[in-house]
Amino acid sequence: MLNLDDRFPRRKLAFFPSPLQPLGRLSERLGVEVWAKRDDVSSGLAYGGNKVRKLEWLVADAIEQGCDTLVSIGGVQSNHTRQVAAVAAACGLKCRLVQEHWAEWEDPVYDKVGNILLSRLMGAKAVLEGEGYSTAVKETWERALDEVRREGGTPYAIPAGASDHPLGGLGYADFADELARQEEAQGLFFDTVVTATCTGSTQAGMAVGFKGQDRPRRLIGIDTAANAEMTRAAVTKIARATAELIGLNRAIEDEDVVIEPRFCGPDYGVPDETTISAIRMAAELEAMITDPVYEGKSMAGLIAMAEAGELDKGAKVLYVHLGGAPALDAYHAAFAG
Ligand SMILES: Cc1ncc(COP(=O)(O)O)c(C=O)c1O
Repeated sequence: MLNLDDRFPRRKLAFFPSPLQPLGRLSERLGVEVWAKRDDVSSGLAYGGNKVRKLEWLVADAIEQGCDTLVSIGGVQSNHTRQVAAVAAACGLKCRLVQEHWAEWEDPVYDKVGNILLSRLMGAKAVLEGEGYSTAVKETWERALDEVRREGGTPYAIPAGASDHPLGGLGYADFADELARQEEAQGLFFDTVVTATCTGSTQAGMAVGFKGQDRPRRLIGIDTAANAEMTRAAVTKIARATAELIGLNRAIEDEDVVIEPRFCGPDYGVPDETTISAIRMAAELEAMITDPVYEGKSMAGLIAMAEAGELDKGAKVLYVHLGGAPALDAYHAAFAG
């Protein structure tokens, strides 16, 4: 166990441990035992998701540093920025968000419903400017930070996805401890873990946490950025930095970062038929709601790999559900008919 709580400040905001749920009807359909870890329902903050798990550590640092405004960046329908807005509201901080044009998805309500609506509702100032998915430091984000300073505030900078930040990997490294405790209590072990991956710190944190455990697991990151090499570089960099930060006594090897490129659809934020049918299958069999940007793609990967015999028949597979359903309304046209 890494026991990170004893070593780094954390502001507890979510309802952890997140539930572990057997997906009986999906398992029967696929012929492989599949469970879900429901990080999508683990938070009372504005529908939750994976960023709350990461932000518990970043916001504790922001408060310790005396910052009064969280400043972050994402796409227009970013789940991440909605969770930054939620954490800011819950902690009595201000919030400024840069919402860039990242997804080539045309819809008249794309910038009005779902995540961005919720962020505005929670008092965040959402500025729509900039374009192009990238985890690089953007000029739009620098400008937002400067504006907060000019207005007399003290900003705390949170990068896209809370990923490329010294504390970005802690949340999902701690997730590995949480999972191990649940497995021990229930007499289970998941040898295969499937997760969506994009800005990288979710998979990176898990890779570090699992590496610290004695029993090896197969961790498969389903790329959703439609740029597997960029995603691999991000995950590897964050995993190594996190391993160093926590003093892990094992090195993160290149083989520890498995990025599966086949299920990302035509582009970031754009679903294809495989994504849509996976979303329908999870909804119809399990009433488990996934989204067209992230979880629908990781679900598509899980289904396709099971059907192709790429998941061992005797495996116990854990599908990590990282949230994302608030974006669904902005994609209503994909489900018409
Ligand atoms: C719902 C959802 N799933 C998966 C991801 C991918 O997580 P990460 O950016 O940490 O790789 C994100 C955010 O990017 C997300 O919002």
